[in-house]
This record gives sequence, structure tokens and C-alpha cells, in this order.
Amino acid sequence: MKNPFIYGGVVFGRHFADRQSELSELTAEMRNGGKVFLISPRRIGKTCLLKNLQRNMEKEGFLAAYVDLYRAPTLRHFTELYAKAVVEVVEGKIEKMVRAIPRLLPGLRPKLEPNPDGTISFSVEYIAREKEVFQVLTEVLEYPEKVSAKKRKPFMIIIDEFSDVTKYNGTDVEKAIRAVVQTHQQVGYIFSGSKRSVIRDMVRDKRRAFYRMGATMELGPIPRDLFRAFIENWFGKGGYDFEAGLVDLVFERGRDVPYNIQRIAHNIWEEARYSKKIGRNLVDKAIRTIIRQESTHYEALWDGISQKQREVLIALASDDPTSLFSRAFLEKWRFGVSSLQSSLKALEKRGVLEKGEQGKYRFDDEFFRLWIVQTP
Ligand SMILES: Nc1ncnc2c1ncn2[C@@H]1O[C@H](COP(=O)(O)OP(=O)(O)OP(=O)(O)O)[C@@H](O)[C@H]1O
Ligand SMILES: [Mg+2]
Repeated sequence: MKNPFIYGGVVFGRHFADRQSELSELTAEMRNGGKVFLISPRRIGKTCLLKNLQRNMEKEGFLAAYVDLYRAPTLRHFTELYAKAVVEVVEGKIEKMVRAIPRLLPGLRPKLEPNPDGTISFSVEYIAREKEVFQVLTEVLEYPEKVSAKKRKPFMIIIDEFSDVTKYNGTDVEKAIRAVVQTHQQVGYIFSGSKRSVIRDMVRDKRRAFYRMGATMELGPIPRDLFRAFIENWFGKGGYDFEAGLVDLVFERGRDVPYNIQRIAHNIWEEARYSKKIGRNLVDKAIRTIIRQESTHYEALWDGISQKQREVLIALASDDPTSLFSRAFLEKWRFGVSSLQSSLKALEKRGVLEKGEQGKYRFDDEFFRLWIVQTP
């Protein structure tokens, strides 16, 4: 039997666990043309949730487009990707898209390229002048509302990794998006992101464009009882015997992050493929394997970090103080307040650490933390 625990990509159907309440909440919002900001730390499952929602909504008769800001380094790219995503869900066929673009979206043109396998890939190319980019973007943003009215079909748009929008320099892009989106009655929007501080600032700061525009939804881990049932069910189907409490140990070690849980479970499955017996010892063995698989990547990451920051990471990886700025902690590790502060900021900016709810720092990648602890 094929390993059912999939990590790193999007999971659907039988490989997708729970998220029922989030799906119904988002579905209701989209039916009302709502605007939602979805936030969570990395690898909790935003993209999986959103892609599953997209499929469900398509079945419900929605035009449902998905755009990933991470894949658009500049505003021009963003405009191209956005146009492609919306035109694709409206027109479907390549011939229709090719005809629709010059007619509906000035400043853009369709681009066709042959693939090695004989198929043709379709993309959208920006051809207007650089300074017209806001104008072209606005036209593209307006398009779904117009189409929705014309086709009498509800529309929804998912913008993933939206916290990345700040990379387009300044808040003008935010303002441009808001100016259009807030007038839309027919179109539901989900803005999703993992840089929670960035999204929070956008929706909470009166001076920022998205101030109170929509509801904020914090995506948490999958509830343990539901995720446990999912994992035990698969191990059962595979004919595995597992010790009681095994799955809870996986949750603890993986800090309830679905990516970690799936990856550990995936490795356990392989490890016990022939013996079919899973003892608790296999959990740590699986984690050691993962750390080994990632070690080249971790070494490169480590090489790119300053000595001071490395010291902070070592302290954080092995110690769990109630306060990082307590005298005991500072003295034990010989840190000065301001240098600790600047290291933490830098590490957060790099995405190595994450600042949680109560201002507590934790590792973005639990396996990296374990690599630091376990590397002699
Ligand atoms: N509902 C789910 N059921 C099963 N596995 C899941 C679920 N959600 C997430 N996962 C697992 O977690 C991994 C990461 O999920 P996903 O990419 O959706 O997270 P994310 O929050 O979008 O992360 P990032 O912030 O890095 O983009 C998936 O590849 C999958 O293995
Ligand atoms: Mg994602």
C-alpha cells in the first residue's frame, strides 16, 4: 500500500483531515461575499484548507480563483498571475482565454508556450508601460465583480501569502487593492498569511488600508482527537499494530504542526513497513531520519547566521525560560538586553523564529530546533 501520509504538498480527500468547522465558516462567508483574513504560523495547513475550500466552492457553482503572492516577486508579476487565475476560472479553455484577455484586460496579453510533452502552457504577460501598473492592476481587480454579475455566478478569490504584499514597497498596493475590493458585493475574498504580525498590522492599524475591512480567522492546529482518528485509521488500514499513546507522542514531538505530524507519521510507516509493529521508539527514530534528511539545508542555514544569533538559537533550543529577559536567563547565557533584542528581531525577520501570541519566541521549524540540540 502507498504511504498515505503526505507532507509538503496540498492534500485532498481521504488524505485531508478534519477542518470541517473552518470549511463551513469560510463557505458561509463566501456565500455572503465576505472578506476574511486567515492567519496562522507556517505549516499549520492554510494552503490545504484553502485549496479544499476552492474545490468545494467550485462544486457549489462558484467561480473560485487562487493566487499565491509568494510566486510573484514584483507587482507586474502579481498582476499577471492574478489575471491568469481569474481568467482561467471564467473561461476554462485556452482558446477562450486567448480571445478574452485583449478584449477585457488592456495592458496584458496572452502567452502560449509549448511544453516538452506536446501540451501548451498558457500565461499572461504584462505589456503596458511600467508606470501604468496600478491602472492595469485595478482593471484586473475589477474584472471578477463584472464577470460575476454578467454570468450570474458567485465569485471567490483566495490570495495566499498575502502578508508578502509589503514586499512591493510601501502601502500603495494595499490601498489600491482595498479601494477595489471594498466595493465588491458579489465577490468573496480570503487573504491568507503566515506573517501574523504583518496581517494584524494591516487590519488593526487605522492608518493601514485594510483596517477593519473583514473578519480575521486564526487557524489553529487540527484538534488532537480528530487528527488521532485520522492517523490511527490509516495505520489500521495498513495493517499496523501500534502502542497505546503512540500518536499523542507524535503530536507532542511535532508540536501539533500538521506538516510535522504527517512527516513523522510518513517515516514511521516506512520504518515499520515490514515488521508492522510500531513502538514509541520509532517516533524518535523517525525524527532522527528527518533531521538527517534536512541536515544539508540546516547546515547552510546555520552558516548564514551570525555568531551572536547562533548563541541565541542554542539558548532557545535547549532552554525554555518563562521570560527571555529575566535576569536569570540573561546571566546564564551572558546576553545583553539590546543585543538579545536585535538578534531575536533578525531571526524573526529571517523566518527562523516566530513570535507567538504572548510575545513568546519559538522555532518556526521544530526539526531545526532538534537539529541544534542534537548536533554535538
Ligand atoms: N487538514 C490536513 N490534513 C492532513 N494534513 C494536513 C492538513 N493540513 C495540513 N496538512 C499537512 O501539513 C502540510 C503543510 O500544510 P500547508 O502547506 O497547507 O500549510 P500552510 O499553513 O499553508 O504553510 P505555509 O505557511 O508554509 O504556507 C501539508 O503538506 C500536509 O502534509
Ligand atoms: Mg501555504
